[in-house]
Amino acid sequence: MKAIILVGGEGTRLRPLTYTVVKSMVPVVNKPFIEHVLRQLAAHGINEVVLAMGYKPDSIFEYFRKNSTLDINLTYSLEEKPLGTAGAVKHAGSQVNETFFVLNGDVYTDIDYTDMLNFHRRNKARATIALTRVEDPTKFGVVETDQNGRVLHFIEKPSADKVTSHWINAGIYILEPEVLNYIPEGAFYMFEHGVFPEMLEKGEPVYAYINRAYWIDMGTPEKYHQLNCNILGGSCDSPLHNGDKIVIDSSSKVHPTARLTAPVIIDANCVIEEKVELKGPVVLGKGCLIKKGAVIENSLLWDNVVVGKGASIINSILATGVKIKDKIQLEGQTLNQEHGGSADTK
Ligand code: GDD
Ligand code: MG
Repeated sequence: MKAIILVGGEGTRLRPLTYTVVKSMVPVVNKPFIEHVLRQLAAHGINEVVLAMGYKPDSIFEYFRKNSTLDINLTYSLEEKPLGTAGAVKHAGSQVNETFFVLNGDVYTDIDYTDMLNFHRRNKARATIALTRVEDPTKFGVVETDQNGRVLHFIEKPSADKVTSHWINAGIYILEPEVLNYIPEGAFYMFEHGVFPEMLEKGEPVYAYINRAYWIDMGTPEKYHQLNCNILGGSCDSPLHNGDKIVIDSSSKVHPTARLTAPVIIDANCVIEEKVELKGPVVLGKGCLIKKGAVIENSLLWDNVVVGKGASIINSILATGVKIKDKIQLEGQTLNQEHGGSADTK
């Protein structure tokens, strides 16, 4: 089974993290975000995946060349200019001649793709859209349905007074190849404004797969942080997290006087000095150095981060190579080595 993943966005809302890493490669519990998505797909036998993007970041290509344990045939579809969600699928799917999945590339979910596919087939749908429930639908596409789950209306990004439902388009579709006929070749076109409303006008069977699986659009630092904490805390299924509460790579050194409170994940070659406190959820990437007496609480540190003696890092995200001076106190910060604030020091 084939899936096309839309990864053409620039990830502007995830800055400063995406100044140095493309959104799909941002580490989630020490693995690139897109690897989580691909493993979820592979677990449901969806193992032919096209990444639809504006350019081919070498980082993605390199990573999957070296980490070929994934049972997935991964290819790329490059757009010269952004073609929109539907235009990108038309461009990537020229060879598609059977039922296929389309995913927004910034969504993490443990949805049951197999059950969704069965639902799609049972209804003989032309398109099936997964719906998820959110508190504030104004940033999403609201989808209205009838009692049988047939889609009646789309209201993309409604103002607060136009919100008619809390069930929104989760950015996960199953489409029949005929849907491609609704999309003009080489033009900017959207599913949300163009294809789906047109299909409804024509009376096509468009169904909503209403489900309560874990779902998050990780497009902002807050949501990205939340996703990591949710995986560590076990509130969503992840094929990459083994359920251990404190996991320390065998090459890392943790001083016996350090105090760790679960959940904590420490990747390879880290050094945790005496009297350090790690109050989970905490994730440390490779090669981090946490000096004597530092406190890290509810924070994500990428690779090669150095935290000085007695420093305190709370509710923060520190990207690769960030160095924090002795005794600095940080709370609620997202720092990148090259674009960090004043606490980002040598
Ligand atoms: N290849 C490609 N080309 N991908 C694109 C393009 C494009 O021109 N434009 C957007 N994308 C990708 C983005 O990278 C992202 O993964 C996905 O398409 C959706 O775009 P966003 O910009 O993140 O849209 P959104 O979050 O505001 O809204 C969409 O997702 C919501 C769920 O998260 C809509 O589909 C809403 O209806 C939906 O509720
Ligand atoms: Mg989005």
